[in-house]
Amino acid sequence: MRILGIESSCDDTSVALLEKTEAGFYIQKEKTASQIEIHKKYGGVIPEIAGRKHAEQIVPLIEHILENQEKPDLIAVRSGPGLITGLLVGIEAARALSYAWNIPLIGVNHIDGHLHSVELEQPIQFPALALVVSGGHTELVLMRDHGDYTKIGKTRDDAVGECFDKCAKILGFDYPGGPKISREGKMGNPSAIAFPRPMMKDANYDFSFAGLKTAALYHLRDHPDVSVPDFCASVEQAMIDVLIEKTLRAVKEFAPKSVLLVGGVSANTKLRDTLKEKLLDIAPDTSCLLSPKTHSMDNGAMIAVAGYYAYTKKGASDMMALSPEPQWAVDRPR
Ligand code: KG4
Ligand code: ZN
Repeated sequence: MRILGIESSCDDTSVALLEKTEAGFYIQKEKTASQIEIHKKYGGVIPEIAGRKHAEQIVPLIEHILENQEKPDLIAVRSGPGLITGLLVGIEAARALSYAWNIPLIGVNHIDGHLHSVELEQPIQFPALALVVSGGHTELVLMRDHGDYTKIGKTRDDAVGECFDKCAKILGFDYPGGPKISREGKMGNPSAIAFPRPMMKDANYDFSFAGLKTAALYHLRDHPDVSVPDFCASVEQAMIDVLIEKTLRAVKEFAPKSVLLVGGVSANTKLRDTLKEKLLDIAPDTSCLLSPKTHSMDNGAMIAVAGYYAYTKKGASDMMALSPEPQWAVDRPR
């Protein structure tokens, strides 16, 4: 089966053509048009500009991907959650293709896409526990099967990616700031500044990063000559400590067969290495499935994989009725 995956809500327009065989998923062709250069000057994504750019990019991208290709068997498109301006562009393009070619269309949850990014390398072993860390989400999700999820915890305010980005912004780094904090932090001492670890010891699986962001802001205001590498390493360590502690506690409680780390922030090397190492200590038989670094940020390939499973389990979406769902929680069934 060949699946066309379309992702267009945040700052990337991305289209991929995948083949699903007995051996797994194979990416035949993919291309992403990033808007980062445009949003950089505003320090974050501006929805109206993003929508316009998606509209400009989507048709040339689809044309490029499908050049000299047979038509696919399924079209999968991110239909939520996310910025409605971008979701609309992806859905309308996908609907037009589905109608013109008479092939099924499936609306995919963006977080379900991130979860399935690991299947670009290996199958998920269920039951699984997933730590989802991105610019808009920080969640712990129990996965019993494809599409059968329970969210056991989430951030009560900022997402961890947002905290990375805001800390970077106060240092004068460009958006997205996560990779820059991480790069500077490699040269610093992670224990140099004792930043708070919000909610780390609370008996639940929720997170909170707004207080840490404020603590970082005040620290910089009061210590303008702080070592930037020490500042970055310390703030990064505070975020990682909280994420890892809560994830490991959930591993002990739910004893999953695999632990997934997905979402844009899963590209963070220190977070990846720490999770692998600590998981090996407490649950050596549990597999650690990391989103491939090449596909940890938003992309069409992960949407195609999640779309394949959603379609095989429950069939296609109603082509005419499919509409954006900006608030679609990953554990709400379609
Ligand atoms: O999943 P994603 O591409 O978009 C959303 O769905 O939000 O995630 C983007 C986020 C940004 O906040 C970015 O700063 C963060 O992922 N990010 C990182 C790293 N690479 C990307 N954060 C920390 N370390 C990184 N290496
Ligand atoms: Zn994302």
